[in-house]
Amino acid sequence: MTHRVLIAAEIRNLVELAQLTDLDITWLAADEPTPKGDWVALVPLLSRWVGGTELKNLPNLRIVANVAVGYNNVDVVAAEMRGVMVTNTPGVLTEATADLTWALILATARRIVEGVDLVRSGTWTGWQPEQLLGLELRGRTLGLLGAGRIGQAVGRRAPAFGLRILYSARTPKPDFEKETGAVHVDTGRLLAESDILSLHVPSTPETKGIVNGETLARMKRGAILINTSRGDLIREEALAMALERGHLAAAGLDVYADEPTIHPRLLAAPRTVLLPHIGSATEETRRKMATIAIANVQSVLSGKPPLTPVYGAV
Ligand code: DGY
Repeated sequence: MTHRVLIAAEIRNLVELAQLTDLDITWLAADEPTPKGDWVALVPLLSRWVGGTELKNLPNLRIVANVAVGYNNVDVVAAEMRGVMVTNTPGVLTEATADLTWALILATARRIVEGVDLVRSGTWTGWQPEQLLGLELRGRTLGLLGAGRIGQAVGRRAPAFGLRILYSARTPKPDFEKETGAVHVDTGRLLAESDILSLHVPSTPETKGIVNGETLARMKRGAILINTSRGDLIREEALAMALERGHLAAAGLDVYADEPTIHPRLLAAPRTVLLPHIGSATEETRRKMATIAIANVQSVLSGKPPLTPVYGAV
């Protein structure tokens, strides 16, 4: 029996053909609206909102298999009420995203983009003792707001750079502490003591706007903010103001509140390294993300539980 499924067209080259057996696929481009109809599975990119209306328009839907670990683009409550499974792609993008977080830490701390711009502009006049002075990492403090898979993977890379680690999380992580020497602290201490603050909490009603004018003011003068999680954790105009005033030394961002739009004041702010949401963008990782999404669909359509559900009602 074949099943009618809607799959993001952009993952077409990333999935294994053998995985698509028994699927009658409608490839859905990112700029096309979610259609109405009798499809039983939807495999969306993180840029597609799947809310009450979309779910109502797909009355036979059994699963939304998001091609991302974050699933703030899906109204999970509405899905659960309709008995629609929601799955994500945890685990496979942890190391790629942690690597990119470190790319941003090093790029901001050592002013890499400004250096590249200087060389390319043709105005570099040679070695200067005080040119592009950055932040020495050794002996500084890395603060992790959130210590799930990705936060811990970022932390595990820190001892090699001589950084002390503080982290805030709902529950302490004894194994992580043992491995890295990380110390569990409350958010107040994390903000006050971090030289580099890296965000690793998901976007939820509680975490939206968690970095705002008030919390930025509690950060150390000269600190660096890094975000590879979700853009709406940060009030972007407040961040731009903190950079303009020099309260923060730099910000390295891979995600934005309203992608692909970036707040104009943030775009113009000094000392930013702004990337186009490429945290998980390695060939291996993107293939694994697509593979897990389709495997979740196949599992549910064959009457088995999903492999990576985002809520417990399986
Ligand atoms: C995710 O999976 O949530 C990432 O943001 C994708 O890069």
